Amino acid sequence: MTASPRSGGERPTPTILGVGAAVPSQLITNADLVARLDTSDEWIVRRTGIRERRHLRETETLAEIAAAACTDAIIDAGCSAAGVDHLIVATITPDRLTPGLAPAVAARIGAPSAGVLDINAACCGFLYGLDQAAALIESGRARSVLVCGAEALSRITDHEDRATAVLFGDGAGAVLVGPGARGRGIGSFVFGYDDTLADTLYAEREGPRLRMAGQQVYRHAVHRMTEAAQEVLAANGVSAEEVDYFVAHQANARIVSAVADALGVPHEKVSFNVEWTANTSAASIPLALAAAQREGHLQPGSLVAMVAFGAGFVWAAGLAAWKDNMTETTRSS
Ligand code: ACO
Repeated sequence: MTASPRSGGERPTPTILGVGAAVPSQLITNADLVARLDTSDEWIVRRTGIRERRHLRETETLAEIAAAACTDAIIDAGCSAAGVDHLIVATITPDRLTPGLAPAVAARIGAPSAGVLDINAACCGFLYGLDQAAALIESGRARSVLVCGAEALSRITDHEDRATAVLFGDGAGAVLVGPGARGRGIGSFVFGYDDTLADTLYAEREGPRLRMAGQQVYRHAVHRMTEAAQEVLAANGVSAEEVDYFVAHQANARIVSAVADALGVPHEKVSFNVEWTANTSAASIPLALAAAQREGHLQPGSLVAMVAFGAGFVWAAGLAAWKDNMTETTRSS
């Protein structure tokens, strides 16, 4: 990965300093779904790779879960919430239409002077947030930016439709981005969209329920994520072999597998976290990053490639050197 466009000046290197995750306490296994839908554990596992998912309880809010993930990320980074300059929350399922989720999350974690912003880019929201965070750090306009992907997809799932009810889950993941020592840090990203296919995957404002043409979404997801991943590797001057870990949007293990195979990435370097989370849209990549760190797949300096695809259609890909060149100074700032 090249150091450009930062190498010419004194601009800080944006770096992921910490990661966190949180899921609701209510566990929904495939057996729970089999008990009330015409489906089977065998079908769900074979077609999607999903074994379980979490759903918010009536008494829980998404802000609580998102705040827990953010606090986890701040602790992992060894930083303080009070120093957070911006909180970017990617979600399509905020607790209310307005206000967004970010102010409630910032208040809960104790970040009184943070800029607070929600973004909606469906399953790509986290990668858009990460790119924005990197730009804020790189430009020197901020020194500490939290990026959180948080979803309560159970609120917009048609729980009577077996074709979609088995696919979605709730949860939140977050990373803290700050200036690292001069190194690879967060590289450049690529983005794309095709709004001619917007009706293939959508939810209307009234009585919102996710609707999708599964097979079409599947085909486009494989194609676009493969292409975006290839583009982002080329843009950063990195080969697929140099990538230490690969995190694709966790919608379906078969999609992840097909993209990895097309890129020539061996499966032991690939996240299949969908098994435990189902599809959590904007939360899926940070949840997978947290799991990867917990399981020892990500070490400081590991090169991680991330790619997502979702409603829009919108796709995105990015590359980051994990906690690259963190210094004691950045950790304590
Ligand atoms: N249990 C049992 N049978 C089922 C179920 C179920 N839960 N759901 C569908 N079936 C049946 C269908 O009725 C169909 O039966 P038929 O052959 O008698 O007509 C059969 O299984 C096959 O259905 P397909 O839709 O062809 O199954 P497919 O292998 O395509 O898998 C799936 C469906 C899992 C939805 C897949 O198409 C997929 O993953 N699509 C992409 C989803 C995605 O990526 N969404 C992305 C973003 S959404 C977001 O992130 C918010």
